[in-house]
Amino acid sequence: MTGYEVVEPRAESLVESLRAFGYATETAVADLVDNSITAKATTVDVRLRWAGNESWIAIVDDGLGMDGERLREAMRPGTTSPSAPRTVSDLGRFGLGLKTASFSQCRQLVVMSATATSSLVARTWDLDHVVRVGGWQLLTTLISEDRALWDELHGDQPGTVVLWRQLDRLVVSPDRQNEQAERHFYTIADRVARHLGTIFHRYLTGPGKITIRVNGRNIAPWDPFLESHETTQVVTDESLPYRGELISVKSFVLPHVSRLTSEEHIVAGGRRGWAAQQGFYVYRNRRLIVSGSWLGLGFRREELTSLARIRLDLPNHMDSDWQIDVRKSVARAPGALVPELRRIAEVVRLRSAKVYRHRGKILQRAGHGDVVQAWLQVVRGTKIAYQVNRQHPLVAALLTTAGGSEVEAMVRLLEETVPVPLIIMNHADGPGRQTTPFEETASGAVLSVLADVVRAMRRTGTSDKEIVGQLLTMEPFSDFPDLVREVCTRELGQETA
Ligand SMILES: Nc1ncnc2c1ncn2[C@@H]1O[C@H](COP(=O)(O)OP(=O)(O)OP(=O)(O)O)[C@@H](O)[C@H]1O
Ligand SMILES: [Mg+2]
Repeated sequence: MTGYEVVEPRAESLVESLRAFGYATETAVADLVDNSITAKATTVDVRLRWAGNESWIAIVDDGLGMDGERLREAMRPGTTSPSAPRTVSDLGRFGLGLKTASFSQCRQLVVMSATATSSLVARTWDLDHVVRVGGWQLLTTLISEDRALWDELHGDQPGTVVLWRQLDRLVVSPDRQNEQAERHFYTIADRVARHLGTIFHRYLTGPGKITIRVNGRNIAPWDPFLESHETTQVVTDESLPYRGELISVKSFVLPHVSRLTSEEHIVAGGRRGWAAQQGFYVYRNRRLIVSGSWLGLGFRREELTSLARIRLDLPNHMDSDWQIDVRKSVARAPGALVPELRRIAEVVRLRSAKVYRHRGKILQRAGHGDVVQAWLQVVRGTKIAYQVNRQHPLVAALLTTAGGSEVEAMVRLLEETVPVPLIIMNHADGPGRQTTPFEETASGAVLSVLADVVRAMRRTGTSDKEIVGQLLTMEPFSDFPDLVREVCTRELGQETA
């Protein structure tokens, strides 16, 4: 055609550039698991085997498989256009993942596959060969070692084995006897298991669940919302209209640390820790794309908002609106939805801060409105100070007694010497490091403090009924309604149930 000249991409350079999409090993494996799930696999087996230079990783599935023609097409970089319509359950978009994910980790990609009606077919991309000949020459022969691996890993049923050989970026020593290199290699298995448990957690439970194994071990789902925990709060649950469809957005505030066992707390903190795991969790066809981000909506990751997590469910045909990338690890909210998402984020962030500050109390349970805090944060000049709340019923009672001015002096002493640097330092080791009120304290000791408080309040003329109400709503006793009732029955003869 006149006015044009054809400029073909150089195979030998492009193939190296295709290696640089920025995949981590676990994201690359997840991209292949996407393909297995799309092919209706019920079991996906990820195998890693150390053998020095000969080490390999395989992703084995029992999905529908491919015949020779489909496999040839699958191996083509850019086999399907991103604008082509996809079936509703398809996890793919770009026609690239199989190649870009694999090339990011290895120099030899072998795909072996069989369907219900066609027997084993295989193709191999050998990057060294492509570079050597400067052309996209796909190997059609199957070497005997690979055939043996198919028999070992898969057997005689429909399905697919994707095999990565020449793992130049994962094998740190060519020597198979090198134990340090071997240990390093197998740490990848742990990372992959954890990542897949996160990304595919909704596929691993409920009706139609699938099994994913890494080196023979079934991986466990990681639910970011602790939905089965009794103190997880659902803050909002709505469907936002967008381009004639509804996008489901459900927001949660997770339980305060004091409501979790230390094991639960560590697990729920995920791979990056509580503060980093807050924000939106964007799913595309129930597959997690973004795991905890405020999506550039203008919010910061604060400690106080670390309990806020929001689930957002997208269908697979809004990919371009959300700017989903090839690795399926980036999503950006379309402008039209920003105000609504901001509104939801604000509500759930506020609620998180409230739960965080109130140490996980369930306010409704006490049924007496807000809890009166013992400490207040105040501004003195341009700086922050911590002050004992003079409105706290016990403090108020003591300050009005005869020795009130000495009590005031002691309170001031405590306020002026709060060991803030020490608290910060210890908190940095994890929020579970410091005790919550009366933690590790026998209930007898709490009862005795409570009895003193009751007597002090009584002396100042507070009525018995008021004492009960105030104890149930003052820090820290609002955390111990059963002990409050017990002490009131004992000291006041008051039935408080
Ligand atoms: N495990 C598998 N079982 C069956 N078919 C597969 C499998 N892996 C890949 N394919 C086929 O190969 C094609 C290309 O896969 P590839 O991952 O490169 O692109 P995609 O999944 O279409 O899109 P994306 O680039 O978004 O992942 C798929 O569309 C599918 O038809
Ligand atoms: Mg894919």
